[in-house]
Amino acid sequence: MDVSIQSGSIQAVDADAIVVNLFQGVTEPGGATAAVDVALDGAIRDLIANGAIQGKLNETRIVYPRGAIPARRVIIVGLGLEENFDLDAVRQAAASAARAVRDTGARTLASIVHGGGRGALSLADAAQAVVEGTILGLYHYAAPGVTPREESERPVDSLVLVEFDVTKLPEVEAGARAGQAVAEGTCLARDLANQPANVMTPTALAETSEQIAADYGMSCQVFEREQMDEMNMGALLSVARGAHEPPKFIVLEHNPTGSTVSPFVLVGKGITFDSGGISLKPHDGMEKMRGDMSGAAAVLGAMQAIGATALPKPVVALLPATENMPSGIATHPGDVVTAMNGVTIEIINTDAEGRLILADALAYAQRYKPAAVVDVATLTGGMVTALGHYMTGVFATDDWLWESIQAAGQAAGEPMWRMPLTPIYDRQISTRFADVKNSGGRMASPVTATRFLARFAADHPWAHMDIAGTSWWERDLPYPLKPYYVRGSTGVGVPTLFGALRAWNAG
Ligand code: BES
Ligand code: MN
Ligand code: ZN
Repeated sequence: MDVSIQSGSIQAVDADAIVVNLFQGVTEPGGATAAVDVALDGAIRDLIANGAIQGKLNETRIVYPRGAIPARRVIIVGLGLEENFDLDAVRQAAASAARAVRDTGARTLASIVHGGGRGALSLADAAQAVVEGTILGLYHYAAPGVTPREESERPVDSLVLVEFDVTKLPEVEAGARAGQAVAEGTCLARDLANQPANVMTPTALAETSEQIAADYGMSCQVFEREQMDEMNMGALLSVARGAHEPPKFIVLEHNPTGSTVSPFVLVGKGITFDSGGISLKPHDGMEKMRGDMSGAAAVLGAMQAIGATALPKPVVALLPATENMPSGIATHPGDVVTAMNGVTIEIINTDAEGRLILADALAYAQRYKPAAVVDVATLTGGMVTALGHYMTGVFATDDWLWESIQAAGQAAGEPMWRMPLTPIYDRQISTRFADVKNSGGRMASPVTATRFLARFAADHPWAHMDIAGTSWWERDLPYPLKPYYVRGSTGVGVPTLFGALRAWNAG
């Protein structure tokens, strides 16, 4: 989508549709909404007086100006109660408005910056949220070979943010650029995870990484099975053993300024299909396990976003990528393998494969003496049991790292919940046959999985985000509407990582 900025009055803008807003309970609209209302001879006040619009969050109404202003349609979107207003209300309202615009068949959209400069919201953040909501709300996955539905054949292809005050244009511009970068990174992550496992292979993940490197001047190295072997990545290789599809260990480095400060390292679980291996999963719903590379997808989406915005400080992405398959040479339950850092692992359950591939990636991260490491993974079914599909569980060694993830998630509309990381749980993963075993059973499984990972992270700030529940959205989930989500992959993690990286960069 083409995103641009314009100064002036929204009622003077020539577009297929213009968007203005209304807080819940307001009877006399102000600002841009009032200006449009006057140009329409009181049409918006009439809607309010007749109870046709109340301003509830995500409520939309269309007015056809019939030549009274240059725009062909006016969309009024509700912002909800003023006391509940926050960045996510802006994002949601923008998504709802964009969908209403698309439903009318309009292709060009102009919007005011909802809540710009209001209360605690900065104009740049509000502009960012409008662009995010618009792009994410209009996202749809173009499945290969499937005839697109009518609305996606007529996409909204341009968004103009209209700001009355010329002196504020630079802030709107900065916010819009960030919003476009993070939304496009999120759409990339969604596309990667939505694609079937026969298309989105480890090789395809490597090609996507190389493309991002080429587009944004990053360096990309892709290690093959033999090189993983030379580096003693026995844990990752034990998962790849049963797979015919070649595994890849992908290293993507962003350092636009040639800085020598310690990098921020992102690690993403890249299981392109999780059958469970010899510990085979039940067949019901197994097709969803094409999304088991959502962590890697989120990291790639975040890398694209920091590339597009040229984040000054260095960031490294590590993506262990493989299928987890049963076969005649697949790892057996009971096998003992040695990870890159020398820690021996008894593989109790080949379906606890995510922690195995992350083990070698976390060990590899040590060579960077990182400022922080954050891994993102669809790691445990227990996390879905614990928090459902609404909040991401986060484990962190350091308060500042947790707080930055929590704050970035809050601003991005991705709620985070801190989980415990106490060594008390280590007994569940102790074994007579190796240093550690890869399954601690059902009790507290998200915690024991993280205690397992802790054996491979070095003494640097580290956080683990378990997105097993939040990476996938179904239409009938019992949560409040998220108008910028559609069924399938959510791209969760991209906005939060991007926000946390920007905060780290600024700090
Ligand atoms: N990829 C799964 C976790 C998962 C489950 C993600 C549901 C998304 C939705 C992971 O590899 C897995 O199989 N975990 C097992 C571990 C167990 C065998 C110790 C689990 O959590 O059941
Ligand atoms: Mn598994
Ligand atoms: Zn898995």
